[in-house]
Amino acid sequence: MTQKVYIETVGCQMNVLDSELVIGALRRHGYDLTDTPADADVLLFNTCSVREHAEDKTYSALGRVRLLKRDKPDTVIGVLGCMAQKDQEAIRKRAPYVDMIVGTGQLGAVPELVAKVRATREPQLAVSLGRTDGGRNEVEASFISYDPARDPSMRPTPFQAYVRIQIGCDKFCTYCVVPSTRGPEQSRPPEHIWGEVRQLVDQGCKEVTLLGQTVNSYVYTDGDRKTRLSDLISGMHDVPGLERIKFVTNYPKDMTDDLLDAVRELPKVVKYLHVPVQSGCDEVLKRMKRNYTAAYYMEMLARCRELVPNVSVSSDFIVGFCGETEESFAKTMELVRVAAFKNSFIFKYSERGGTKAADRYPDDVPDDVKKRRNNDLLLVQNENSRTDHRNQVGTVVEVLVEGPSRRERSASNQANREEASHVTQLTGRSMADHIVVFDGTARLIGRTVRIAITDASPFTLYGDVLTDEVVGAVSREPTASVAPSRFSLPLV
Ligand code: SAH
Ligand code: SF4
Ligand code: F3S
Repeated sequence: MTQKVYIETVGCQMNVLDSELVIGALRRHGYDLTDTPADADVLLFNTCSVREHAEDKTYSALGRVRLLKRDKPDTVIGVLGCMAQKDQEAIRKRAPYVDMIVGTGQLGAVPELVAKVRATREPQLAVSLGRTDGGRNEVEASFISYDPARDPSMRPTPFQAYVRIQIGCDKFCTYCVVPSTRGPEQSRPPEHIWGEVRQLVDQGCKEVTLLGQTVNSYVYTDGDRKTRLSDLISGMHDVPGLERIKFVTNYPKDMTDDLLDAVRELPKVVKYLHVPVQSGCDEVLKRMKRNYTAAYYMEMLARCRELVPNVSVSSDFIVGFCGETEESFAKTMELVRVAAFKNSFIFKYSERGGTKAADRYPDDVPDDVKKRRNNDLLLVQNENSRTDHRNQVGTVVEVLVEGPSRRERSASNQANREEASHVTQLTGRSMADHIVVFDGTARLIGRTVRIAITDASPFTLYGDVLTDEVVGAVSREPTASVAPSRFSLPLV
């Protein structure tokens, strides 16, 4: 009988991609995916350590499967990813029934480790011992390299895929666990990335999102040849059938003009830049070790907007970082007001053991103050988002149609909704990353259509299909056998 695997993923897009790769590998070993934990022979939790809340989610999920393990002792329970890398001991203490703990650099070994657990009933531990273990430029060897059989059913949609171009991080912002959970920054060879993109497009993929913790620091050196992110993108731009290229997340200090020129000049590159500033106060930025000032960031932002007209920019913020006074927070509020981001992701500082900030600075902003600052910043950002969205009314945008809107997905009439001729509410994103909702038939899913924007809320544009004709030279049908209504859930 086929063995079944269940997986839960928290964390960033990198983790979503890792889960896809792990499931792809297990499928090749005869496993099928199930979304019911009770039916599974193997239960996997791909984890995130970036904030305490993300870790709590995993511990409560592990708590839920404890009884399951008691009733079905043969079930293999595995904890994967960043938390596995960082907290092996704590996991073993809090959930001694976990059978495998697998770090971010060992995910390729999951099928083998599952087999070992089954054969020996001994717990398996596979993590990197430290950042120095992984040799530079050995990404393909130390990590699961691309496999065309990776699991398309785990992708955001059959026509959108993530592509890792870089692993790890060398920036060491003082608050952040990522450099220790993901190891040293290493860029993948461009030929491998281009090959992967071509294979994805052959499978029906139209949009690729290039992933790296500081994606614009990408550089691959081979003898005299240096490939930067701008070169990497140019090198994949003309793959026939590929319609959109995105990349996240950018580091402000590495936003070079060659990249901005490429974003402007290359029509397939999405006109959207996620460039987190984190704070508007220089003293806080210094304690965070972000290596720039608020003024530097604002100049960079002006350069982005000058070199890429109409570009959308979004940011991340941490509120309540160590020593953040009302005065420093007021500077962040002012920066958000002036910067006019399309949207911002705002987080309350969460102290992480083992980081420089945890060692050096007390977590001295009380939680209720963090909460208030979070809400205050959100209010200013929402006003900006409202203005940004309203400014789009009256324009025509190109939308890659992703599937039924949230409203439709929660509606009960499933059968009707997936009928090709039935008019339904659809959603997709514009080239500037705006979410656009409109009425259309299911046959538009996976295509690029032109939408006249008629209305806007702070987070969504509404409009009408201007023409039924498909935009773009090539219109391929997705070959992946997945219901088009499958969506990725909001993560942390
Ligand atoms: N590599 C990316 C994203 C890293 S994690 C980058 O550098 O932009 C995503 C976001 O989580 C960060 O941008 C930061 O805003 C937030 N974050 C990271 N560590 C955090 C912590 N300890 N507490 C609260 N938020 C944190
Ligand atoms: Fe963390 Fe900073 Fe690296 Fe981003 S750049 S992953 S915030 S250390
Ligand atoms: Fe991503 Fe969380 Fe790890 S944000 S890199 S999964 S700590």
